[in-house]
Amino acid sequence: MYCQRFGSSLCMGDCSTLKILGIHDGHTATACLLDNGSITTALSEERLTRNKGQGGFPAHAIQHIMQTNHISANDIDVVALTGFLAPLTNIGEYRRGRQKYFPQLVKLYPGNPRKIIASTVYWGKKYRLRNSRLKGHLERIGLPFERIRLVEHHQTHAATAYFLSPFYQNRQKTLVITLDGSGDGLAGTVSIVDEKGNWSRLHNISTFDSLGMVYSRVTQYLAMKPWEHEFKLMGMAPYASPEYAEKVFTILHNCLKLSESGLSFVNQKRLWGNSMLEYFKEVLFGHRFDAVAAGVQLLHERLLVPFVDNWIRKTGVHTVAVAGGCFMNIKANKLLMDLDSIEDLFVMPSCGDDSCAIGAALWEYEQNRQPGTKDISRLEGLYWGPEFSDAEIEKALGFYSDTIKFERSADIEKKSAELLADHKIIGRMSGRMEWGSRALGNRSIIANGSRLQNIRKLNAAIKMRDFWMPFAPSIKWERRHDYALIEKDIPAYHMVMGYASTPLAREHLIAALHPYDFTMRPQFVKKEINPAYHRLISEYEKITGFGGILNTSFNLHGWPIVCSPEDAITTFLKSDLDFLTINDYLIYKS
Ligand SMILES: [Fe+2]
Repeated sequence: MYCQRFGSSLCMGDCSTLKILGIHDGHTATACLLDNGSITTALSEERLTRNKGQGGFPAHAIQHIMQTNHISANDIDVVALTGFLAPLTNIGEYRRGRQKYFPQLVKLYPGNPRKIIASTVYWGKKYRLRNSRLKGHLERIGLPFERIRLVEHHQTHAATAYFLSPFYQNRQKTLVITLDGSGDGLAGTVSIVDEKGNWSRLHNISTFDSLGMVYSRVTQYLAMKPWEHEFKLMGMAPYASPEYAEKVFTILHNCLKLSESGLSFVNQKRLWGNSMLEYFKEVLFGHRFDAVAAGVQLLHERLLVPFVDNWIRKTGVHTVAVAGGCFMNIKANKLLMDLDSIEDLFVMPSCGDDSCAIGAALWEYEQNRQPGTKDISRLEGLYWGPEFSDAEIEKALGFYSDTIKFERSADIEKKSAELLADHKIIGRMSGRMEWGSRALGNRSIIANGSRLQNIRKLNAAIKMRDFWMPFAPSIKWERRHDYALIEKDIPAYHMVMGYASTPLAREHLIAALHPYDFTMRPQFVKKEINPAYHRLISEYEKITGFGGILNTSFNLHGWPIVCSPEDAITTFLKSDLDFLTINDYLIYKS
C-alpha cells in the first residue's frame, strides 16, 4: 500500500504515533529513538565499541536501541539521517564523486571558494544516498532505504537548540543560532522561530568563513586532536600572560574577522583546512603554547559574543537558543549569558555533532506529526543510555573475583557519602548511562572537592590526565547560589555554562574549580532529574556541610566513558580509585 505521508510504497501503519530513528554517522557516531515525541534511548557508538570518537555507521548503538525498546526495523517509521554530505569517516562513493566533480567546480568558479563549497554540497547530496556502504548497513538491519530522510547538518543543530528548549514548550519567538567547524558546507546559521512554530532561515555562514575551523586548526597546531581537544585549550587559556595572548589574538584576527555589518565572519587570508594549518605553523612559531591557547580563546569570545549580540539587536528577539560545537565553549557561553541584550538563553547540552542524531529525529518528528499529536517532551535528564540488571552485574563481578571483593549496600548513596567525607575517590556507575560528553553522576568519578590535595590524588588515580585541566562540581540545585555567582537563573543541569565562584565555593569545592581563575562548570543537581545522585550529595552535606562534590567523567585518559559493568570494573582495576559502586554494589580491590 502506498503511504501518502511518506511518499513510500510501504505503508508505515498508524499515523497517530511516530517512531523515528535518528542517526549521525560522522565523528562520534550516535543513534537515538524518538518515540512519539520522547527520546527513549540515545547513545554514541564509542560507548559500545570502546573506541573514543568512533565514527561511521552506528550499527551497535542501533542494535541496542532495537533490543532495549523491543522493536524491529518494521516498527521504525522514519530514519532521520544527519547531513546532505557523506561524513569524512565513511566517504566511499562520495569521494569518487568529488574527485570527478571537484576539479570541474574549481574551473567553473575560479577564486570563489564559497561557491565551490556550496556546489560540492549539491553534488555530495546526490551521492549520499547512492552510497552502497550505507545501503548495506541499512539492509543488514532490515531498514528499507526509502524510509530515510536526510536532514541538513545545521538544521539538526538548530532543531536540538529550539525543540529541547523551554521556548518550544512556551511557544516563544526564538532566535536560533548554530555555529560549528563545518557541516554541509556551512559553519553557522541564524534562524527565527515564530510563536506558531514557523521557521525562517535568516543567514548562512559558509564553511569557508568558519569560526570553529580556526579553533580546530590551532588545536591541531598545538599537536592535539582537532574536533576533540579544543576544550584543553580553553582550560589552558587562563594561565597565559594577557600581553602575549593579545599578540596571538592579533595574528588570528588577521585571519578571521567579523564582517562590516557584524552579522557574519570573513575569512581575511582566504585560507582553509590544511592551508590554514600551514599558515599557523609559520605565524605562530615562537609563541608560547599557553599564549596560543589564550589567543584563540580570545578570538572565539571576541567574535562569537558580538555576533550573537548583533543578531539580537537586528531582529529584536531577545530569547536565544544555541547549538553546535562552538557553544561547547563554556567560557564564551558565560559571556553570552552576561549580555544585556539576552533575556533568556538555552544552550543545548553536549552540542557537538553527537547531538545531530537527536536533532535529525526531532526535525523529522515536527515535519511528519499529525495535528493534535504529542509535543516533543521537555528536556530534563540526559539519562538515555544502557542500564544493567543485577544478574548482569554479578556475572561481571564473578569474572573478576580473584582481584575484587564486593558487598551489597542497604544504602549505597549514604555509604558513598561517608566514603567521600573520608576523602576516598569513587568510580560511580548507577542506573542508565548519560548521553553526551559530560558525566552527570551515573558514570562519574566523584570525590571530596574541599581539599586541593585531592587534585593530585585524582590525577594520579586517573592515569595520564592533563594536569592543567580543571575538574567540575556537582552541586545541589538548592545550594547553587551559595557557590556560583548567578545573575540570570538559566538552568545549568548539564554542565553547559561557566560561572564565577563565591568565597564559600573556594572553601567547600576548591578542587572542583579552575585552579587559576576559580571559575566553575557546574552540574546543578535537581532531585526531580536524578534523585539518587541528589540524595548522595544531601547525605554528604549532612556529614560535611558541603552542598557539592567533585565530579569528573568515569574513564581513563583517551578512553570513552564507561558503559557496562565490565568497563567499570576494568577501569577500576587499571586506576588507583579507592572504591567502585555499581548500583547498590560496593566494590573494592582484594
Ligand atoms: Fe556540527
